[in-house]
Amino acid sequence: MDLSCNLLLFFSLLFIIINPSIVQSSFRPKALLLPVSKDPSSQQYLAQINQRTPLVPVKLTVDLGGQYLWVDCERGYVSSSYKPVPCKSVQCSLAKSKSCITECFSSPRPGCNNNTCALLPDNTVTHTGTSGEVGQDVVSIQSTDGSNPGRVVSVPNLIFTCGATFLLEGLASGVKGMVGLGRTRISLPSQFSAAFSFDRKFAICLSSSTNAKGVVIFGDGPYVLLPNIDVSKSLIYTPLILNPVSTASASFEGDPSSEYFIGVKSIKINGKAVPLNTSLLTINNIEGFGGTKISTVDPYTVMETTIYSAVVNAFIRELAEVPRVAPVAPFGACFNSTNIGSTRVGQPCLKLILSCKAVPFSGGFLVQTQWFKLKVMFCVWDSWMEVQIPGLQ
Ligand SMILES: *[C@@H]1O[C@H](CO)[C@@H](O)[C@H](O)[C@H]1NC(C)=O
Ligand SMILES: *[C@@H]1O[C@H](CO)[C@@H](O)[C@H](O)[C@H]1NC(C)=O
Ligand SMILES: *[C@@H]1O[C@H](CO)[C@@H](O)[C@H](O)[C@H]1NC(C)=O
Repeated sequence: MDLSCNLLLFFSLLFIIINPSIVQSSFRPKALLLPVSKDPSSQQYLAQINQRTPLVPVKLTVDLGGQYLWVDCERGYVSSSYKPVPCKSVQCSLAKSKSCITECFSSPRPGCNNNTCALLPDNTVTHTGTSGEVGQDVVSIQSTDGSNPGRVVSVPNLIFTCGATFLLEGLASGVKGMVGLGRTRISLPSQFSAAFSFDRKFAICLSSSTNAKGVVIFGDGPYVLLPNIDVSKSLIYTPLILNPVSTASASFEGDPSSEYFIGVKSIKINGKAVPLNTSLLTINNIEGFGGTKISTVDPYTVMETTIYSAVVNAFIRELAEVPRVAPVAPFGACFNSTNIGSTRVGQPCLKLILSCKAVPFSGGFLVQTQWFKLKVMFCVWDSWMEVQIPGLQ
């Protein structure tokens, strides 16, 4: 693997998963490989999985904090191995469903069966949710030893949710659903680690360029993403924080969020702390607002309004010598990039100050490589300003 991307590694030891419905194949891979590309028109990260019998490639939008895999079953889902998950089954409780579709008023098909376990699949790009049948089908994926791609392996009964065709609105062209890597027992990392008995860890390496590929590696390192360089050897850590309140468009009461939050303590621009209401940086455990999440579905860094204003004002102060140009929505302040290099200040450096105390077994860690220190860059492209965390958007 030769990739120029930013690596995030997630450990999650929250759950011990024993999923009796997943049959293990005789060859046991150490890790699995899912290539990720960035779609130029939507800026969404896309991956392709092979699902169903006969196997077909299914293009999906990658959602790091998404709850599970959901695909459109209304249009074009043909498979002889599809199985609806019955209400009150082991798989249904693993999925933490609190809903049962007793009767579907149509002829039976994937997504429409009687007495089926139901979940609330979520388009996290448009924030639209619906109700959908929980099903199982075969998924095949390439294994890896951490350096090179290995043989293709299958998970015969991967649990997913049937979305609807309208739920695809707002996703990249040709996409048939979303693949969630979040903190649930039926997200892809959880099911893959249960199926092949490897550590419940995964790494995601995303490219900010639409020309370079990224990858998700399910399982433990080494992660040889550059020739002869195991990036798992040069990591710095910050704890992942659980938001006890769901952040999905639709959810069952009492569900925690499946998204990954980190503890940003302050924001500095050129070494100076940006004045902001720091209570907004902490998750409100009753309403679930506040805190800092890592997302792959927003194309740029999104900040709460007052924090954003404070950051933009600090940025304007640092770039006082640089001519402003008309703002390009949704950005509030834009500068002429041809003038930045010639100034004394150059491009301001924005840093998120993180909690760096690694607390073992507290529900997971976000790990970063040295070249990615959660230093947020203000990238100034042709006369407009973009705020982005490299590879994190
Ligand atoms: C569900 O059950 C009803 C009543 O038994 C039946 O009429 C209907 O066809 C069934 N629907 C499906 C999708 O199997
Ligand atoms: C800071 O934010 C919290 C949460 O939104 C709010 O309750 C509080 O009033 C704010 N404090 C100030 C000084 O604006
Ligand atoms: C940016 O600055 C250059 C050099 O001063 C100038 O030629 C150009 O017109 C400016 N662009 C905008 C959008 O103002």
